[in-house]
Amino acid sequence: MDADHYFSSQPSTPLKRRPLQVVLAGERRTLQTGGGIFSPDGVDKGTAILLADAPAPSPTGNLLDIGCGWGPIALTLALRSPEATVYAVDVNERSIELTGDNAKALGLGNVRVSMPDDVDPEVRFTTIWSNPPIRVGKAELHAILLTWLPRLAEGGNAYLVVQKNLGSDSLQRWLGVELAERFPEAGFEVSRDSTSKAFRILRVTRTKP
Ligand SMILES: C[S@@+](CC[C@H](N)C(=O)[O-])C[C@H]1O[C@@H](n2cnc3c(N)ncnc32)[C@H](O)[C@@H]1O
Repeated sequence: MDADHYFSSQPSTPLKRRPLQVVLAGERRTLQTGGGIFSPDGVDKGTAILLADAPAPSPTGNLLDIGCGWGPIALTLALRSPEATVYAVDVNERSIELTGDNAKALGLGNVRVSMPDDVDPEVRFTTIWSNPPIRVGKAELHAILLTWLPRLAEGGNAYLVVQKNLGSDSLQRWLGVELAERFPEAGFEVSRDSTSKAFRILRVTRTKP
């Protein structure tokens, strides 16, 4: 793998920042971006579909963006649910830095950005939104999802946007089987929330405590 691919934890060159103009939560925002991260020059197509089509995030509680990049999902969650606490995690240090600074630039005090392991495992989430890192490979993707989805609160929902030709249907089947077998008490339900262009949004709901 290229050492400077976006999921490198520590890119080998220093971060060169540049301005980024995007519309998030209905308004034009001036943020910062840089190289060595996912979709540095704007909102990715799949992410845009998730932001447009997922049902409104929970207004309160803890919300989560798995793999935040420069922050489009986490920032949107924080703008739309100002009373909630938004956790944004990534393994890419530049992504963590940029999402943190972009949250500050928007005056969002409700965003906590960190490496995945720095989140207290006892925290439960009412909403998870993610454009997950499919390209890390199946084993790692599955491990990531099995780390975070069981941390949904009762009644909580996760919405995952996945490209059809990157295996959305087989991921949906795998999630259904795996979550039911590993966590039968949690009553997980996995379904396809919507399909738009080449993407599907998968929904995972925890129905029991
Ligand atoms: C498809 S990108 C989405 C980025 C951003 N949310 C967006 O919509 O533009 C997936 C992100 O997951 C991150 N990632 C890779 N492995 C991860 C892991 N084990 N835990 C958390 N994030 C990870 C990548 O660095 C990348 O930023």
